[in-house]
Amino acid sequence: MTQDQLKQAAAEAAIDYVEGGIIGVGTGSTVNHFIDALAKIKGRIEGAVSSSEASTKRMKAHGIQVYDLNSAGPLSLYVDGADETTRHLHLIKGGGGALTREKIVAAASERFICIADESKLVDILGEFPLPVEVIPMARSYVARELVKLGGTPIWRENYVTDNGNLILDVRGMRIMEPAKLEQQINNIAGVVTNGIFALRPADELILGTPSGPKQIKP
Ligand code: A5P
Repeated sequence: MTQDQLKQAAAEAAIDYVEGGIIGVGTGSTVNHFIDALAKIKGRIEGAVSSSEASTKRMKAHGIQVYDLNSAGPLSLYVDGADETTRHLHLIKGGGGALTREKIVAAASERFICIADESKLVDILGEFPLPVEVIPMARSYVARELVKLGGTPIWRENYVTDNGNLILDVRGMRIMEPAKLEQQINNIAGVVTNGIFALRPADELILGTPSGPKQIKP
């Protein structure tokens, strides 16, 4: 099976968790499969809150109603992918640059189901460069502070987030205490948020494997 087929199988398995109402929908190639599967059962839901312009566009093209989070209230379910996940369901996200909106929608949701192919499962987070969204004027200052934390930040050039900000991708971090580092980086002035999801981890992981999707709970 290809990596894309594993992503698709995990995404389609997440449809079983959709009960109705307004659901939160993440961003990325795995979520794109979820959106396509959601379109087939769209009559079952009222609509969705989206974590990116890209997912909004895809859902609208399928005729799925997209709501603003402010008018949707608390969400019962959020489905999103990840760049890395541990067995504790601590994640690195933001490879697609949508980390801030993803973190907001995850925080506003009662249950967060992460969908990923098996290549995303790691013992220690940090092999994947950690995305940090920064206010443009703070870019160099934040980069210097990230060096003090042991990382090597690289500016994602020619890229602007949906919120009008910049991304620093931080290499060389072996993240032994994800919740602590998440907080430390978020405390740097000028950081909007970073791609560690440990203070609000996923509640359940659906991992696409050659023997079928596996459910993992922390
Ligand atoms: C988007 O910003 C990311 O957080 C995605 O959730 C993550 O990059 C997963 O992407 P794929 O599903 O494309 O692997």
